[in-house]
Amino acid sequence: MARLTLAVAPLLAIIPLATAQSPVWGQCGGIGWTGPTTCVAGSTCTVSNPYYSQCLPNGTGTTTTSGTGTGGALPTGTSTAGLSVVALAAGKKYFGSATDNPELTDTAYVAELSNTKDFNQITPGNSMKWDATEPSRGTFTFSGGDAVVALAKKNGQLVRGHNCVWHNQLPSWVTSGNFDNATLTSIVQTHCSTVVGHYKGQICKYSPPHSWDVINEPFNDDGTWRSDVFYNTMGSSYVAVALRAARAADPAAKLYINDYNIEGTGAKSTAMVNLVKSLKASGVPIDGIGVQAHLIVGQVPSTLQANLEQFTALGVEVAITELDIRMTLPETAALRQQQKQDYQSVIAACKAVAGCVGVTIWDYTDKYSWVPGTFSGQGAACPWDANLVKKPAYDGIVAGWQS
Ligand SMILES: *[C@@H]1O[C@H](CO)[C@@H](O)[C@H](O)[C@H]1NC(C)=O
Ligand SMILES: *[C@@H]1O[C@H](CO)[C@@H](O)[C@H](O)[C@H]1NC(C)=O
Repeated sequence: MARLTLAVAPLLAIIPLATAQSPVWGQCGGIGWTGPTTCVAGSTCTVSNPYYSQCLPNGTGTTTTSGTGTGGALPTGTSTAGLSVVALAAGKKYFGSATDNPELTDTAYVAELSNTKDFNQITPGNSMKWDATEPSRGTFTFSGGDAVVALAKKNGQLVRGHNCVWHNQLPSWVTSGNFDNATLTSIVQTHCSTVVGHYKGQICKYSPPHSWDVINEPFNDDGTWRSDVFYNTMGSSYVAVALRAARAADPAAKLYINDYNIEGTGAKSTAMVNLVKSLKASGVPIDGIGVQAHLIVGQVPSTLQANLEQFTALGVEVAITELDIRMTLPETAALRQQQKQDYQSVIAACKAVAGCVGVTIWDYTDKYSWVPGTFSGQGAACPWDANLVKKPAYDGIVAGWQS
């Protein structure tokens, strides 16, 4: 009896779990998910990304199969042209992808990231940021950034350094130090000169990094200065302090200010224009404006090209630095087709503007996209799906460079 009881107890415990099913549209899997992993009849558990699988209804033409290729009714990309091959043929310096250190253990992922026919440039997504590089004052750690740069060197890829000064991912010793203007000025100088100096170009064809996002996201969407520890303590002077420190540390690197929601014309783009004008008038080194381009399917600003032109008219280069084009899930064939058009429009705008030097996508696969973790219910923003299968967006990028 005792043995039987022991055998029955766990069985009883298991049955409710095994029979519980998620409703249509409910979550059914993902990292950290402890709920049901099967779906009610008529729906299928479908991987959206590593953190989220969802019960999608059968027969709607919107389902993909999980795990084994993208399959289903969704169209895929068919071009084999090579994204950087066509970018270089269009006279640009690079087409690249962001990456991040945890992904570098994924051999299939790294194999495509290292395919220089698609990517001749990479950007470390996180490992050169302040929290990663100077976690306590004066103590610098470069292992994460070094790993990305080593991969780039091995592959013969350019690197964009990202970033020196940003309101986010700051260690608390910076945000809570109650430093006065002079002290924080010195802290910014030390941080930028040490980090940029660490990656100062060597004498080789691909001197990493070739450009740096020295300042990231300085403005609010209405074009006013973002309130952060740097602006609140130093005023707008932090921008010049960081740029001058970066120039001194690596005179060959192109120095950028990078922001989002400056794709089209508007208050925020005008603020960027005015900042770059005033920096140039003051003799502060500034070489480029980074246009992040975290966009939404069907909403590429119609003024994108005109806006890039107003930036390059200031005497700086521009780059699309963090391109992805997200949608409300689930993916459909129609959304994928619209996304293809949208990628094509963005690339065509860069192609048309002589001073637009290149485009970086904010990782190439939905498997490692930041979008679902930040925008609830949205995703599928990258040109490759979570199974590393090309989407129509790939063909859109090719078409944009060849337009
Ligand atoms: C729904 O699709 C799944 C997987 O393709 C299948 O196993 C299941 O039988 C289907 N259910 C219905 C009701 O068609
Ligand atoms: C900080 O000091 C700089 C000069 O080093 C000055 O231009 C700036 O106005 C000061 N900012 C504030 C908020 O005091």
